[in-house]
Amino acid sequence: MPTSDQVLTEFNDASSEWMHGLPGYAGEREAHDLAQRMHDNAAAKKGHFITFEGPEGSGKSTQLRLLSSWLIAHGIEPLITREPGGTRISEQVRAVLHNPDHTEMTAETEILLYSAARAQHVAQVIRPALESGKIVLCDRFYDSTYAYQGYGRGLSLEALRQITTFATRGLVPDLSLYLDVPPEVGLRRRETGGEEMNRLDRETLAFHQRVREGYLALLRVEPDRWRTIDATGAIDEVQAAVRAAVAEVIGQANRRISE
Ligand SMILES: Nc1ncnc2c1ncn2[C@@H]1O[C@H](COP(=O)(O)OP(=O)(O)O)[C@@H](O)[C@H]1O
Ligand SMILES: [Mg+2]
Repeated sequence: MPTSDQVLTEFNDASSEWMHGLPGYAGEREAHDLAQRMHDNAAAKKGHFITFEGPEGSGKSTQLRLLSSWLIAHGIEPLITREPGGTRISEQVRAVLHNPDHTEMTAETEILLYSAARAQHVAQVIRPALESGKIVLCDRFYDSTYAYQGYGRGLSLEALRQITTFATRGLVPDLSLYLDVPPEVGLRRRETGGEEMNRLDRETLAFHQRVREGYLALLRVEPDRWRTIDATGAIDEVQAAVRAAVAEVIGQANRRISE
């Protein structure tokens, strides 16, 4: 089993050299796609895109709800959404992904379904909301793909990155909160409360430990985008840390929140 840092170096591998010889595959095409993505991202920059990441049972849904109430109390109406899901089509894909009867699903099918749901979600909901200046709170986003499918299942991170960039047209969260709890704690919380156990919750503890190491590796390569929140404490304590992180990132842009 490669270490998480070894796997991460795949991000920099140029594995598609052979494509450059194909008719219709030209450097200009890549340059055009890049320009388009930069344009899309600049347009989306009016709002703030905040994602909640971490293992099941870490409190993502709970904390997102509480943060949303707090923002509303400050006169800010956030858009609340989740992955996989957030649109009519994506919620149907979610049901396929989470169905515990679908034990025959391959890892490749799983990632393509997540990405299909995400492409629709970004285009139909997230990007338009950001363009209109909204704060978007999203329960999981593409970092979950890298953590679960990349580190958990061992799929190529470079393949995941390309599929993800294609699906999102290069959209990157402004702030990603990592709610950190040991996997055992999260799984115990899920068993005693919260949502029903889904197909991924039923994976082995070793799988969930690999996911956690994956998240920690992602945090190391993009420390500016991430804030780690100790999610082992009481719900109110965790919420205080979440608010502080959010206020830091959007506070200057929005004085109401820092008052
Ligand atoms: N800090 C906490 N301490 C104890 N229990 C918690 C805490 N945060 C959430 N829970 C409980 O754990 C369960 C899972 O929380 P949830 O917010 O659904 O997690 P997630 O969305 O990350 O899977 C719920 O029953 C919730 O009430
Ligand atoms: Mg949840």
